[in-house]
Amino acid sequence: MTRIAIIPGDGIGVEVTREAVECLRAAWRVTGRDVPLDLLPYGADHFLRTGETLPDAALDALRGYDAILLGALGDPRVPDNRHAADILLGIRFKLDLYVSKRPGRLLADHLTPLKGRTARDIDFVIFRENTEGLYVGMGGLFKKGTPDEIALQEDVNTRKGVERILRHAFEYAQARGGRRVLMSDKSNALIHGHDLWQRTFREVAHDYKAIESSHMYVDALAMQMVKDPSQFEVIVTCNMFGDILSDLGAQLQGGLGLAASGNIHPGRTSLFEPVHGSAPKYAGQNVANPMGAVLSAAMMLDEIGHDEEARLLEGAVVGSVLAGRTTRDLGGGLGTREVGEDIRRRIMAARPS
Ligand code: NAD
Ligand code: IPM
Ligand code: MN
Repeated sequence: MTRIAIIPGDGIGVEVTREAVECLRAAWRVTGRDVPLDLLPYGADHFLRTGETLPDAALDALRGYDAILLGALGDPRVPDNRHAADILLGIRFKLDLYVSKRPGRLLADHLTPLKGRTARDIDFVIFRENTEGLYVGMGGLFKKGTPDEIALQEDVNTRKGVERILRHAFEYAQARGGRRVLMSDKSNALIHGHDLWQRTFREVAHDYKAIESSHMYVDALAMQMVKDPSQFEVIVTCNMFGDILSDLGAQLQGGLGLAASGNIHPGRTSLFEPVHGSAPKYAGQNVANPMGAVLSAAMMLDEIGHDEEARLLEGAVVGSVLAGRTTRDLGGGLGTREVGEDIRRRIMAARPS
């Protein structure tokens, strides 16, 4: 039987996850499935109370679930956000979730800040390498706190790690009849690590001759995403650049409140979360947009084979957006809770196809 773990986390993560969970329950009610959800306490409160971030036993237990839905982590009471690194990056690394999938899809024309652009122009996916790069935490501080201090943060790129994310991007494009894969790096400056990306990309592209492969340096790509996003279908890049570009991509589709993501190891327990963080200044005010969390739950449903329910969630979010039943970041006047209710009303009214 399918089992899902829920980690609401901190700040608005708790509020948007509550809505996403209720939307999942509504969709399963429509299709007649019974899926147990286990709510896990890991986050700032739990850390401050117990000193525990994500214990090894909890990580092992997570492997027993079909998927994990997470809200967001980050709390001003934990200034270095150690718990967030342990929990979020801990799960990504230890479950080897090497694919970060971050779609940029415009649901309604009026949401994009780009003049004259429509939904036809903005429909791409960023695949962000999710287990290496600058994120691995290798390095250290020497002579800390002195004028001679040295801080080293290593950028780790392995042949295996680079190849598997590149291959995933091509496989994804091929499976959907896609035409183009663009790899982005900074090989003109990062002459070792990103030389590996260049060489590996050429080799992998060779195996997918029907798909057009191209390259942009990441600075140029950031500019082109704003200038003409219609040229992009599948973008694949390293961990750090993928983090930055996916916030840019989120704004093109209407803001962080709408952006969904998956941290995926195909065929294994994967983690789904909105792209946004815990937005502490909006926590507890019922103003956060829950749609990114609901769309992340939809992505999770697709991954575990609950396609009907995934379409119910997506269709309902699109319905709410088009009807203007949104939070204020999208120009509406509703609260987090009320948007969740509107989405659920649409889920319950829909018939599964
Ligand atoms: P953030 O994404 O939390 O918020 C940035 C801004 O985006 C907000 O001030 C708000 O204007 C807007 N926004 C974000 N989510 C929204 C939503 N659902 N509805 C409406 N508006 C929304 O980024 P930040 O302020 O840089 O980070 C806050 C904390 O979250 C930090 O501790 C950071 O490390 C953490 N963080 C966690 C994750 C994660 O857990 N996946 C992701 C990003 C940031
Ligand atoms: C994200 C976040 C995380 C990241 C932080 C909270 C470590 O920004 O998921 O995009 O950089 O990956
Ligand atoms: Mn980010």
